[in-house]
Amino acid sequence: MLRNGEMKLGLFLVQAGYNEGAWRDPSVPAKGGVDLDYYADMAAIAEGATFHFVFLADSPSVLERDDAHIARVSRNDGFEPITLISALSSKTQDIGLVATATTTYHHPYHLARMFASLDHLSRGRAAWNIVTSGNKFEGPNFGDSELPDHDTRYARAREAVEVVKGLWDTWEDDAFIRDKESGIFVDTTKLHLLDHRGGYFSVRGPLNIARPPQGYPVLVQAGASNAGMQFAAELGEVVFTAEPSLENGKRFYANLKEKARALGREDDQVLVMPGIVPIVGSTKQEARDKLERLQSYTHIDVLVGAAERWLGFVTDLRSMDLDSFVPESLPQTNFIQSRQKLLLDLAAREKFTWRQLIRFISDSRGHLMAVGTPDEVANTMIEMFDQRASDGFNVIPAMAPSGLKDFVDLVVPELRRRGKFRSQFSGQTLRENLGLRRPPNRAAQGSASGRQ
Ligand SMILES: Cc1cc2nc3c(=O)[nH]c(=O)nc-3n(C[C@H](O)[C@H](O)[C@H](O)COP(=O)(O)O)c2cc1C
Repeated sequence: MLRNGEMKLGLFLVQAGYNEGAWRDPSVPAKGGVDLDYYADMAAIAEGATFHFVFLADSPSVLERDDAHIARVSRNDGFEPITLISALSSKTQDIGLVATATTTYHHPYHLARMFASLDHLSRGRAAWNIVTSGNKFEGPNFGDSELPDHDTRYARAREAVEVVKGLWDTWEDDAFIRDKESGIFVDTTKLHLLDHRGGYFSVRGPLNIARPPQGYPVLVQAGASNAGMQFAAELGEVVFTAEPSLENGKRFYANLKEKARALGREDDQVLVMPGIVPIVGSTKQEARDKLERLQSYTHIDVLVGAAERWLGFVTDLRSMDLDSFVPESLPQTNFIQSRQKLLLDLAAREKFTWRQLIRFISDSRGHLMAVGTPDEVANTMIEMFDQRASDGFNVIPAMAPSGLKDFVDLVVPELRRRGKFRSQFSGQTLRENLGLRRPPNRAAQGSASGRQ
């Protein structure tokens, strides 16, 4: 497979930063979560550095079980991503905008309409991070006592995405002629009703907005269980993943590309972008000091609560001796199965005690960490890229905005100096910038004579 030698970069835009205690640092605006200017400034920094996109994660719920944990995190005071991305679309020009939305609790008609709108608003810079809901507290916000089971969530997601794509294809690209002379606004021979009837949805269509500028907004996925990887291989054009090491990353990359290839997809149309949590200092010691300062902000209730959640709420760590070793297995979770496995595998490999594991989870949640000088952080990234563990990275500042600024000021120039990152946008749309093809209209292809 040919690659152009340059990595793709996205900014995982997390309010105060990925570290749950980061909001306590004096440099972090405490009200940033609900301040458009705060996000716009970070998007501008990423755009100035020619990042490919900014990414907003989401769960329509709080993530924490106990008040003691809820009391100490800043995250439950933040914008809904599609709303925020719409606002950012008018504050940015070139950078891609990735918003998360779950297929478990959104209806596909709304999804198709919102993301088509976002693609028009941004002139072709929108992407949808398709998630299936992995958080315990989402179900009760939508009338379910529990989340639907893992397989059901993926089955529903598969059908939802088919419906969404079908709706985007209900109008051919040139259907809206808007001809004042003839009085014909839209050529209905270029309209294709969807008339979908499936196991989860019945949707007639058409969509009440023109086909998105990109055909389809870019489809992003992060499934990592067997079911999740299969889903990502079928339709993910950008695939996010948490890989704590080069070896893990290489394994995931090879596995996912292989699965995608088996489905007839080309390697360069499936971009694997693991997360990286960089903590950069002018010396290694300075970077370590920054990490230690962040760690000092994190209360034990937060450490324990976060670990219980990422392990899938199958343990009660308060009754555990934190200096005992982590067991090799725990009961399977109905939440994010792959992350539980990743963390347990890592704990077994590193012979972690619970105390070490909960600290690791708080620092990186399973993502690759790079704590060091600009040169060292760049080395880690280039090694992952050159050895085919990644096509680029989702950069996750541990603390914002300072962690982003450090990365942009210190690491990006180093990546450029070594020919691994661009210094200008290569196209107008996100697809063009990522080298992803614009999908043809399947409904138009299926009926040469128009309406079907
Ligand atoms: C970088 C990254 C970002 C993610 N963002 C979200 C998110 O915003 N909302 C969500 O519900 N899940 C999110 N996930 C979780 C995935 O969608 C998926 O549930 C997870 O990777 C586990 O997949 P599995 O259920 O197949 O094990 C994210 C995962 C990664 C690696």
